[in-house]
Amino acid sequence: MQELGKTGLGVSRIALGCMRMASLDDKAAQAVVETALEQGITFFDHADIYGGGASERRFAMAMKGLKVDREAIMLQSKCGIRKGYFDFSKEHIVASVDAILSRLETDYLDVLALHRPDALMEPEEVAEAFSELKAAGKVRYFGVSNQNTYQIELLQSYLSEPLVVNQLQLSPVHTPLIDAGLHVNMKEAAAIVRDGSVLDYCRLKKMTIQAWSPFLIDLQKGTFMNHPDYGRLNQTISRLADQYHVSREAIVVAWIMRHPAKIQTVVGSMNPARLEKIAEAEKIVLTRAEWYEIYTSAGNSLP
Ligand SMILES: NC(=O)c1ccc[n+]([C@@H]2O[C@H](COP(=O)([O-])OP(=O)(O)OC[C@H]3O[C@@H](n4cnc5c(N)ncnc54)[C@H](OP(=O)(O)O)[C@@H]3O)[C@@H](O)[C@H]2O)c1
Repeated sequence: MQELGKTGLGVSRIALGCMRMASLDDKAAQAVVETALEQGITFFDHADIYGGGASERRFAMAMKGLKVDREAIMLQSKCGIRKGYFDFSKEHIVASVDAILSRLETDYLDVLALHRPDALMEPEEVAEAFSELKAAGKVRYFGVSNQNTYQIELLQSYLSEPLVVNQLQLSPVHTPLIDAGLHVNMKEAAAIVRDGSVLDYCRLKKMTIQAWSPFLIDLQKGTFMNHPDYGRLNQTISRLADQYHVSREAIVVAWIMRHPAKIQTVVGSMNPARLEKIAEAEKIVLTRAEWYEIYTSAGNSLP
């Protein structure tokens, strides 16, 4: 378990991302949720756009089938992405939450996150939407996703409560969050600060970073696991998996967990057997040298 932001609430270190759940039938979705719960994964990440709403509906069916106590789990969803644009207007945020709650068949979300920055954001409007949702008991905590330091600072300055999460892409092969902090004041591309040092900022503010797509090269190219372009990384992962007697998947998640920012890993597998392998990450702690070896095996350099 780890603390969610500064809320004092304990959450599972691994979260199940439900983006791909719409592609399952009800029985398969129930099997995935059941396995997650058996493995101690009690935090579930959604978004209104996943499967056009179908992922949230399928998840609700699974919860009913399994007779899960609502208070035994944490439900997060995201809003703000529309067809062709982003929308953080008060009207859209409030309406999105009502639709999410109806699809998830629940009275409240534990966390609502704004999915991708809206260039036209009016922070006053977001603040009004958040306080209305909180007062109505529809959302307990708020967060963001894919936001940089000053975007968070700006929004935060209008809010009465701290934002608790920032969901960002992170895997051994997608490391902009880490690279610039290692290459300070150097001339190579890795030194470019792309996000306002948001990793350090979130640590400073005690916001939980949630790592999305921990196994992917990117959303188009699929996973780096067993991918021929990542031979060295896969060799390192296999060697460490043998050494620790855990799955290869566990090594990848253990790499994210080893970072002292206490990053929550949002895994998206819809395969129960794979989820069991992933959960083995909780059993091990990589050494500092092993963490750096995975980083460099993925093609990242050190100064
Ligand atoms: N905030 C954002 O902008 C954003 C963007 C994208 C995603 N997300 C969130 O992050 C969650 C995770 O994203 P993701 O699904 O792309 O993450 P992921 O866990 O990196 O990828 C899972 C996908 O990789 C496949 N895969 C193939 N081989 C694998 C292996 N050996 N180990 C693990 N997975 C393997 C899985 O297939 P199987 O199902 O067959 O295992 C599944 O399709 C999403 O569900 C969503 O909640 C957020």
